[in-house]
Amino acid sequence: MTALTMPLIEQNWKAYTSEDHEVWGLLYAKRMRELETTGARLFLEGAAAIGLDVSHVPDLQDVNFRLGSRTGWQAVPVGGFIPAADFFTSLSVRRFPTTIIIRAKSQLDYLPEPDIFHDVFGHVPLHADPVFADFLQRFGAVAAAARTEEETAMMARLFWFTVEFGLIREDGVKVYGSGLISSASDAANALSGNCEQRPFDLDAVLEQPFEIDRLQDVLFVIKSFDQLFAAIERLRPGRARAVMATAASTMSE
Ligand SMILES: [Fe+2]
Repeated sequence: MTALTMPLIEQNWKAYTSEDHEVWGLLYAKRMRELETTGARLFLEGAAAIGLDVSHVPDLQDVNFRLGSRTGWQAVPVGGFIPAADFFTSLSVRRFPTTIIIRAKSQLDYLPEPDIFHDVFGHVPLHADPVFADFLQRFGAVAAAARTEEETAMMARLFWFTVEFGLIREDGVKVYGSGLISSASDAANALSGNCEQRPFDLDAVLEQPFEIDRLQDVLFVIKSFDQLFAAIERLRPGRARAVMATAASTMSE
C-alpha cells in the first residue's frame, strides 16, 4: 500500500459565512425535495443518520462521530488536488477525501469542481450503510493495487458507473450515485428516456467508456448494494488482474 501524501487540512467550521450556510440550505432544500421521490432509500436514511440538515454546512466532526459508530468511515478534509493513487489508498482505509469549500451563490446550479455539497451531501450518506461501506473500502484496495493504465481505467469506469452515477431498482429506478444525488440536471437526465438504463453487469461496466462534463447516455442499474459488493469481490487484490485480463481480452475481440 502506498503512503498517503494528501494535504490534510482542518475544516474550521466556524469560518463559514452566513452566505455559505445559506447556499448549503438552498441546495439542500431543492435537492431533498426531489430526492424524496427520486433518491435511493439508503441515501435518504444515510443523510438522516449522519445528521445532514438544511440549516447549516455540515460540521465534519459531527458527521464523523455519527459515522464512526456505524461503519468506521470518516470524511477527511483535504485541500487541492488528490492524486488518484492517494484517493484510492484513502478509500481502502475508510477515509473519504472531502472538499470543504462551498460554491458561491452565483454558481448554485453548475460547478466544474466538486465542493462540500457534492462530496458530503452527494457521497457521505451512503457511507453509513454497512454494505456500501464495505464495497467502497474494497474498491479502494483493488484500485490502489492496479498496476497498469488499463486496470486503472477499468476501476475509474467502475467508480463512475456506481459511486458517481449509479442507479438502483426499488419501486422504480432511483438515484444513488453522488453526481446524480448532488445535481438536479444530471438526475433528471438519468431518469429520462434520453439515458439508456442497462442492468448492472461488472464486465460490461469495466468496458464502458464515459465522458465527464456532459449528460450521460448510458447508466447501469443495480438491484442492491449486495450486488455491488459481490462484483467487487470478483476483483479482489491478487485476482484483480486475471479477472480484468479476461475483460480486456473480450474487449479486443
Ligand atoms: Fe464525486
